[in-house]
Amino acid sequence: MAESNQYNIQWFPGHMAKAKREISQMMKLVDLVIELKDARIPYSSTNPMINEIIGNKPRLILLNKSDMADKSITKKWIDYYKKNNIIALDIDSITGYNIKNIIPYAKIVLTDEFRKREARGIKKTSIRAMILGIPNVGKSTLINKLAKRKAVNVGDKPGVTKTQSWIKISPELDLLDTPGILWPKFEDKEVGIKLAMCGSIKDDILDLEALSINSLDYLKENYPDSLKNRYNLEDISISSNEILEVIAKKRGCILKGGIPDLERVEKLIMNELRDLKIGRMSYEKPEGRN
Ligand code: G4P
Repeated sequence: MAESNQYNIQWFPGHMAKAKREISQMMKLVDLVIELKDARIPYSSTNPMINEIIGNKPRLILLNKSDMADKSITKKWIDYYKKNNIIALDIDSITGYNIKNIIPYAKIVLTDEFRKREARGIKKTSIRAMILGIPNVGKSTLINKLAKRKAVNVGDKPGVTKTQSWIKISPELDLLDTPGILWPKFEDKEVGIKLAMCGSIKDDILDLEALSINSLDYLKENYPDSLKNRYNLEDISISSNEILEVIAKKRGCILKGGIPDLERVEKLIMNELRDLKIGRMSYEKPEGRN
């Protein structure tokens, strides 16, 4: 478990207003906002007010946990952002994949800013940046990776903490040591399901049965072979409820009298999905987003 259990953040309207206000203050200190999203669900792992909060501030999107996502779909997301004039980079904060490209990408985002500095005779080319994102997207893991340290206590409070300090990542990059924490689009049920599929919100917040049925429906449509292979299924044209029962039998999730133990099999499937046992997966495609 990460040091701060941010599952427990209670986002009340007052907290959201405070987070927004504090993050807006912090943004005045930086040249660049690094927005962290989950590569598997770039839409659902986005704060609903992010554009308003960021405004005109240069932004770099990092699609984190790309090790868990479907490579071809991550590429589609990067192309999608590019079409919208936003630069995005896929990273993995645990192994450090693409971390070395963050500074070069940040420089591309700040090309205009550097030109302006040059025109004003300012030689400085260092960048001050802050990381923003919803809980569990990997903000503290990324800060630790960049800072080459083991742990940072990000705290459990929405927004950012009062005292800010800078971490010198390189001569070219200074990073605020606490990230901005924003809320997800939790009023949207679909978003809640996706966040739970990724393990970013606790199961007990959602109905496990609905979650596993939704997940199986998604796998049937998008990753049929992975589903068949993992559970040795021949026919997945049956309903997801029936698939649950078949997997329960195959995995010995059986109650007295031979009745399938649905709760156990639902938990099993969700755990295997999150542990990548079924394979790398993305749960959202950019198609149809505007
Ligand atoms: P936050 O500050 O944004 O809230 O997120 P945090 O860094 O605490 O990361 C949340 C979880 O995501 C952690 O797992 C962390 O290890 C994992 N994580 C972060 N970045 C990546 C990544 O690029 N790839 C993968 N595969 N996982 C990543 P946890 O379950 O809370 O703890 P643990 O499993 O590390 O014990």
